[in-house]
Amino acid sequence: MARFGSLFFGLVAALFVSASPAARGLQPTPANLLGEIINALQIGLVTHINATITLDTLTTNLLSIEFGAQNPLIFELTLDSVTSTAGINDTVYATFNHTFAKPVVVPPLGTANSGTVDNVLLTQGAIASLDIIPLGYLDLLNVDINIRALTINGKLGIPLVISGLHQKNVSTT
Ligand SMILES: *[C@@H]1O[C@H](CO)[C@@H](O)[C@H](O)[C@H]1NC(C)=O
Ligand SMILES: *[C@@H]1O[C@H](CO)[C@@H](O)[C@H](O)[C@H]1NC(C)=O
Ligand SMILES: *[C@@H]1O[C@H](CO)[C@@H](O)[C@H](O)[C@H]1NC(C)=O
Ligand SMILES: *[C@@H]1O[C@H](CO)[C@@H](O)[C@H](O)[C@H]1NC(C)=O
Repeated sequence: MARFGSLFFGLVAALFVSASPAARGLQPTPANLLGEIINALQIGLVTHINATITLDTLTTNLLSIEFGAQNPLIFELTLDSVTSTAGINDTVYATFNHTFAKPVVVPPLGTANSGTVDNVLLTQGAIASLDIIPLGYLDLLNVDINIRALTINGKLGIPLVISGLHQKNVSTT
């Protein structure tokens, strides 16, 4: 529980820093700071990835994914958009940029499904990417999210940018 206590503290500190105009311009920025706290505590915000490859993928290099998100905190979080690169070790295989048409509400201490995220680009091409399917995992190499903390059924809340997240070995189907 201690690490979630630290995350809670970090999040509250970031809320204060981002709310205070005088503090803007400090390094590290709250976005990086929160990302660093989450990375340091090794809290995986993504629980699982389902990737759907179709015949079209072979020509377009695009596929769709769905992922599970978890919330280690005691208040609701709502995801508005995500930009991510993923791959194996340091090699990028996939990248996407997605704004949720319907923001993803992750309940306190709970999980939520992202829904379908289309237009995930296979940067190495579809054929080269077939090699990584049997591995059954992906490393998230960089994730930036726009999130709102303390939302109520996805409404209102305090907007935060969390940048520079990474997470190794996310189980992927
Ligand atoms: C992935 O697919 C499995 C099987 O269809 C399903 O049970 C699971 O909920 C899906 N997970 C996500 C995050 O979409
Ligand atoms: C990723 O890196 C680890 C540790 O360096 C290595 O054991 C593993 O074989 C690498 N995986 C792939 C698929 O290259
Ligand atoms: C994601 O989209 C935004 C806005 O369209 C753009 O500024 C940004 O460069 C894009 N990022 C990636 C990784 O494609
Ligand atoms: C990835 O996670 C699975 C189970 O979650 C584990 O069995 C495996 O050893 C892990 N692989 C690496 C490279 O950490």
